[in-house]
Amino acid sequence: MIGTETLEAGREARADVAAFAADVVSGLSRPRKATSPKWLYDARGSALYELICDQPEYYPPRLETELLERHGEDIADAVGPEVLVFEYGAGTARKAALLLSALRRPAAYVPVDISREPLLAATEALRARFPRLPVRPVVADFTAPFPLPADDFACRRRLAFFPGSTIGNFDPPDAVELLRRMAHDAGRGGMLAIGVDLPKEEAPQVAAYDDARGVTAAFDLNLLARMNRELHGDVRLSAFRHRAVWNERLSRVEMHLESLEQQVVHVAGRAFAFDAGETLHTESCYKWEPRAFDALAAIAGWAPEAAWTDDRAWFAVRLYRAR
Ligand code: AVJ
Repeated sequence: MIGTETLEAGREARADVAAFAADVVSGLSRPRKATSPKWLYDARGSALYELICDQPEYYPPRLETELLERHGEDIADAVGPEVLVFEYGAGTARKAALLLSALRRPAAYVPVDISREPLLAATEALRARFPRLPVRPVVADFTAPFPLPADDFACRRRLAFFPGSTIGNFDPPDAVELLRRMAHDAGRGGMLAIGVDLPKEEAPQVAAYDDARGVTAAFDLNLLARMNRELHGDVRLSAFRHRAVWNERLSRVEMHLESLEQQVVHVAGRAFAFDAGETLHTESCYKWEPRAFDALAAIAGWAPEAAWTDDRAWFAVRLYRAR
């Protein structure tokens, strides 16, 4: 017997493959080839991202964890008791566990993620750790609107939690749109706790996206493997290399897959030509000055409430209140 769960998962998976195919075909047809970073996070990509977080060069998770540990009480004081926490792109929800253990009597936790299996595993772990906390996972691509089941839970306030500097993945107009949607989901009196990576010298920033053990390279190259797996591609991974580039003008680190030779690859039934040295831009990681980020958040309807940073001002956890 096939349960509805399985049928639904199957339908979602097919819709996912169709959307992936459409984005790859349009992205590889552009003069400057680019794909959405969300395709990096299939089950294997999500597992590799977890490994990236253990690499010494990848500073954001360590700094953010320290900030949440050190200032969890301050955050709890600022947001008050009985808040409903929702998180877009929850992953393993490790940061959420830190926040939830600092909050007083949290009303519920709603993790949203595109990657079903890791999300369900994280949900089980959280339910075991916080037996009295309702946890309601939502499998959804949060880059597009989706219904948030927040009305199912009584709470004093909704808190949008967006750690990991995931906001840095979005070009500014898309970042505003996403922050505006969070303000809408947070509703009256809602708040936002967000992790923001700050601009710093080029070397540590680039190293963070090109670690010595090659984990980030494997993460990036997995996109090509995923094209082969899901879109009947014939891409030779050895004909590409991973590169991380600091784009000073746009204040972002870019990840690219660089073609090592002139070649034609086939994906989703289409042929795409690469020159030697031509790249496929797979992800951007914007670094925001605090003032610039406040201005961005203001456009989306958020007023600054508090902020915490490390001694070197490399990373910040910032708290906003819906206006
Ligand atoms: C998951 C978007 C927060 O931009 O730092 C890390 C993604 N990619 N290394 C980041 C990422 C390669 C990461 N975010």
